[in-house]
Amino acid sequence: MKPRRSVLAVPGSSQKMIHKAMGLPVDEVFLDLEDAVAPEAKVSARANIVAALHEPGWGEQLRVVRVNDWTTEWTYADVITVVEGAGRELDAILLPKVTDAGQVRALDLLLTQLEKVCGLEVGRIGIEPQLENAMGLRNIDEIATASPRVQALVFGPADFMASLNMRTLVVGEQPPGYDTGDAYHHVLMTILLTARAHGLQAIDGPYLQVRDVDGFRRAAARTAALGFDGKWVLHPDQIDAANEIFSPRQEDYDRAELILEAYAFHTSTAGGARGAVMLGNEMIDEASAKMAQVIAEKGRAAGMSRTTRFTPPQPGQE
Ligand code: GLV
Ligand code: MG
Repeated sequence: MKPRRSVLAVPGSSQKMIHKAMGLPVDEVFLDLEDAVAPEAKVSARANIVAALHEPGWGEQLRVVRVNDWTTEWTYADVITVVEGAGRELDAILLPKVTDAGQVRALDLLLTQLEKVCGLEVGRIGIEPQLENAMGLRNIDEIATASPRVQALVFGPADFMASLNMRTLVVGEQPPGYDTGDAYHHVLMTILLTARAHGLQAIDGPYLQVRDVDGFRRAAARTAALGFDGKWVLHPDQIDAANEIFSPRQEDYDRAELILEAYAFHTSTAGGARGAVMLGNEMIDEASAKMAQVIAEKGRAAGMSRTTRFTPPQPGQE
């Protein structure tokens, strides 16, 4: 799966912002038809998005559209307009405020019909369900497995905080008065566990204090440490931070590749066919190799190159 370290939110109603987004070094751009677009502008934003998706200036970014949620009157026409108009240019639909598996299946069915009618490869357009209310989190397992199109589970902290009646207005920071831990740990861990159980990506939502890059770094580093694959960015200042924080550190990437090579050598017949071996001062085994594999894959997907190499010990050297 392509990385989604940085996911740039762009209002579909702003041609200027869409044009700017085309050249930015993010892994994904999502063009919004939902909360960043006023009700009066929703219909014209669909046409904007279709036109923008056809423009030649896009880079390697995944191109995604966030439609309105199924409780509104806009969802079906959002999907039909965008896929009929530019389905070939579209990687996935971000479906907000998901409450149950039926909503994902409904989108899957609609996409399948559209792909058939438009002569597109059936099943190629992915779905990113956005978890942003209590019901969605309770049904997350069924949501994650409702369609083979589901690629990533996305946290929506602002709506989620509203859904829980959390006593704060600052997205990405702890609610004042809760001083015993991380108020979001349960929800983040639930999203992460579900994503990992089903082979999906886990994406953290926005940090709204866009001028506070240190605050963004702190928030991003927390979810990256847990194991999340990426985070939304709302401003160019947040992009480099997200790409860096959700890539492995160089030393971890080097170490991971080293562990994989050392493990492959020592478990081979030439290396003595051993299961647990020393690498420097650390004992490595099959589980170490699995952890290393995760970091190595993330680093490779991020285009990192290694700065060290494994040299097999000469006979008699160990
Ligand atoms: C994003 O959609 C959020 O609700 O935080
Ligand atoms: Mg939201």
